[in-house]
Amino acid sequence: MTILVTGGAGYIGSHTVVELLNAGNNVLVLDNLSNASAESLKRVEHITGQAVPFVQGDIRDSALLERVFAEHSINAVVHFAGLKAVGESVQKPLEYYDNNVNGTLVLVDAMRKAGVFRLVFSSSATVYGEDAPVPYHETLPRGRTSNPYGSSKAMVEQLLTDLAHSDPRWAIALLRYFNPVGAHESGLIGEDPFGVPNNLMPFIAQVAVGRRERLSVFGSDYATADGTCERDYLHVVDLALGHVKALDFLANHAGVHAFNLGTGQPVSVLQMIRAFEQACGRAIPFEFAPRRAGDLPAFWADATKARQELGWVAERDLARMMADTWRWQLQNPLGYGG
Ligand code: NAD
Ligand code: WQD
Repeated sequence: MTILVTGGAGYIGSHTVVELLNAGNNVLVLDNLSNASAESLKRVEHITGQAVPFVQGDIRDSALLERVFAEHSINAVVHFAGLKAVGESVQKPLEYYDNNVNGTLVLVDAMRKAGVFRLVFSSSATVYGEDAPVPYHETLPRGRTSNPYGSSKAMVEQLLTDLAHSDPRWAIALLRYFNPVGAHESGLIGEDPFGVPNNLMPFIAQVAVGRRERLSVFGSDYATADGTCERDYLHVVDLALGHVKALDFLANHAGVHAFNLGTGQPVSVLQMIRAFEQACGRAIPFEFAPRRAGDLPAFWADATKARQELGWVAERDLARMMADTWRWQLQNPLGYGG
C-alpha cells in the first residue's frame, strides 16, 4: 500500500511514518513545513533505513493535490496537516478554519476525483466539548466546543460524516486523540514546538534541560485528587500504531468510524512532574499559577472500542513516556535546529 501522509513532518506524523514503513507500507509525505522541519524526515529515514518521499506543499493547493494523486498510486490518506494551538486559534480563527476545515475539503475533493476513498483523520478529545461526562465514550454526541481549534475539528468530523453517508465507497476513521506525549525510543524524533511550548510535556522537558527556569502549574484548586488537572496522556508511538490499525480496519469497513485513542488512565499535572523527575533524576522547579482559561478539570478516554474493533491498546506506561521524552530532549536540547 502507498499512503499519503499529510502533515507527516510534524510530531505525530513523523512517528506514524516510522510505523507505517515498519508495517511494510510505502509513504508519501505532503507538508508545508509551517510547523515542522524537514530534518524530522531525514531522521525517520535514519531510523527505518528507508527513503521517505516528500513533497513540500499545502493541502489547500488543489492543483498540487491533483498532481500528487496523478503521479503516485495512492491507496489511502492519513491526514495530520493542520494548525493545533488552542490559544492562537482564538486570535486567528480564519487561519484555523482555512487550514483545518477548508484544507480538509480541498483534500477530500482531490481524493474523490482520484478515486481514493480511504481516510484516517486526526481528530481530538476536544470534540466532546465542555460538558461531557467522563470517561468519554464514542457514543456521546459531539459537544459545545470553546475555541476555533476545537470547533474546526468538530466541523471536519461532521463534514466527513456527511461525505461518508453520501457515497458508500468512503471508509473514514475519526481518531480522537487524548494527550500524546513521548518520543521514539531512538531519541532521534520527538516533539519540537516553535517558541514557548503551550503544552505541559514539552514545557516540563525544557525546564529539565535548562532552557526554561520553571514550570507554572495552572490551577491547584480543581476538584481532583491533588487539586491539579487530570488528563489521559498516551505515548506517541502507541498513537502512531493506532493509525496502522485503523488503516487495516478500513480495508474491510466502509462508512465513518470514530475511535478514542487514550490509555483510559487520568494523570494529574503534579503526577506528571513527579514521573518526569524520576526519569531525568533532576528536580523540576515549579510554581502554582492561576487556572488557564478554558481548561477542563479532568477528562480521559474509554478506549474499549479501539481495543475491541481495532485490536489496539496503549502499551507504553507513564515511565516509558517520560524516559523517551527525556532521551529526545537530552539528545536534542534545541530540537531539530540544535
Ligand atoms: P504538528 O504541528 O507537529 O503537525 C502538523 C503538521 O502539519 C506540521 O508538520 C505542519 O507543518 C503541517 N501543516 C499545517 N498546515 C498545513 C497545510 N495547510 N498544508 C500542509 N501541511 C500543513 O502537530 P501534531 O501534534 O503532530 O498534530 C497532528 C494532528 O493531530 C493535527 O491535526 C492536530 O490538530 C491533531 N491533534 C494533535 C494533538 C496533540 O496534542 N498534539 C491532539 C489531538 C489532535
Ligand atoms: C495539560 C495540563 C494544563 C502547560 C491541549 C488541547 C487539546 C489537545 C491536546 C489537540 C492542563 C496544564 C499545561 C503548562 C500547566 N490538542 N499545564 N502548565 O490542554 O489538555 O490539551 O493539547 O487537539 O485540544 O487543548 O494539554 O498539555 O496544554 O495541558 O499546568 O505550562 O497541563 O493546565 O491541565 P490540554 P496541555
